[in-house]
Amino acid sequence: MYISSLSLMNFRNYENQKLSFSPYTNLIYGDNAQGKTNILEALYLFSQGRSHRAKSDRELIRFDSQSARLKLRFHDSERDYTALMQLIRGGRKSISINHIPITKLSMLMNYLNIVMFSPEDLSLIKGSPAARRQFIDSAVSQLYPSYLISLTDYYKALSQKSSLLKSIKRGGDRNMLSVWNEQLAKGAAKIMRQRREFIGILCGFASTVQKEISGEELEVYYVPSIRTSSEDENTLFEFLEAHSRREIEFHSALYGIQRDDINVFINRNNARIFASQGQQRSATLALKIAQAEYIFSEKDEYPVLLLDDIMSELDISRRTYLAEKIRNKQVFITSTDTDLVKSTEQTKLFYVKNGTVHQDG
Ligand SMILES: Nc1ncnc2c1ncn2[C@@H]1O[C@H](COP(=O)(O)OP(=O)(O)O)[C@@H](O)[C@H]1O
Ligand SMILES: [Mg+2]
Repeated sequence: MYISSLSLMNFRNYENQKLSFSPYTNLIYGDNAQGKTNILEALYLFSQGRSHRAKSDRELIRFDSQSARLKLRFHDSERDYTALMQLIRGGRKSISINHIPITKLSMLMNYLNIVMFSPEDLSLIKGSPAARRQFIDSAVSQLYPSYLISLTDYYKALSQKSSLLKSIKRGGDRNMLSVWNEQLAKGAAKIMRQRREFIGILCGFASTVQKEISGEELEVYYVPSIRTSSEDENTLFEFLEAHSRREIEFHSALYGIQRDDINVFINRNNARIFASQGQQRSATLALKIAQAEYIFSEKDEYPVLLLDDIMSELDISRRTYLAEKIRNKQVFITSTDTDLVKSTEQTKLFYVKNGTVHQDG
């Protein structure tokens, strides 16, 4: 799968920019704060429907503009796609692919597969469980868009249950709790099954990659918040019911997939506690490459890779390993330093300065 062109109008610091890409390596370079990441962000938007860093779409529209427009052409082994996106200040964003309006994020997930790796990901291993859930959720959604629907439904019900828990001491209807628990147990059973399966397969890919990078053993385990001998809907419901008194006491939903986590072990030590900086870097790289390989194994299309400013974070042996892995695949690399990336004939260079791109060759 590869992206052939992108046009940006009033997106971030780009007024009007057209870019055409190499199906192999695209190296986007320039000083800080010139607009390198903005390009990757635009690409990512077409894959996930939202920015990897902006809290709201409003941030994406050029200062002083009312709307932004983006156009992307991409291709897989079967078809060519033209995707359009419009962001309007104070309005909803609209997306279409080959003239089909995309009305739900889960629809969008069926088209462009992207795996992004940026410096923030380096805290994946030691950072908050929320970041690890985010990683799992976005990866599983890309593989199985129906997962995103289950997740959205679950979080809607959870927010209802949370409001109820806050109101029970003030006379809220306690009986309603079982109604929400039933719905949540049903959703959780599906989501937990998919998370467990995904993590199992991801672990297989990641441990192979980690071996190749550093010779170390990597294992990834699912750590569900609800620990029961079986994870079917009835057992989960009973668990929630049995713990409702505690949830009422704390006025908060204490158990469920919103509290799940994953554990990463390197050479049988818990990486969250014991991993060195270097080990964290290798393990994160292994997880990202594993995600890409998982997508390839499921879809028969290698995803597009976005590597934002990470080359300077990796030592020479990891960079060399990565370069070998991405050979013949489409990848976008941003860097302030072009020396960190080995250019080949297939590499296309883009120099970014203050919202304008100069394409070499
Ligand atoms: N909505 C916006 N309108 C105009 N400029 C923006 C907007 N959002 C960010 N910028 C500008 O984009 C630049 C940062 O772009 P970015 O791609 O993150 O830089 P880098 O090249 O370091 O990756 C900054 O100069 C910032 O002021
Ligand atoms: Mg940047």
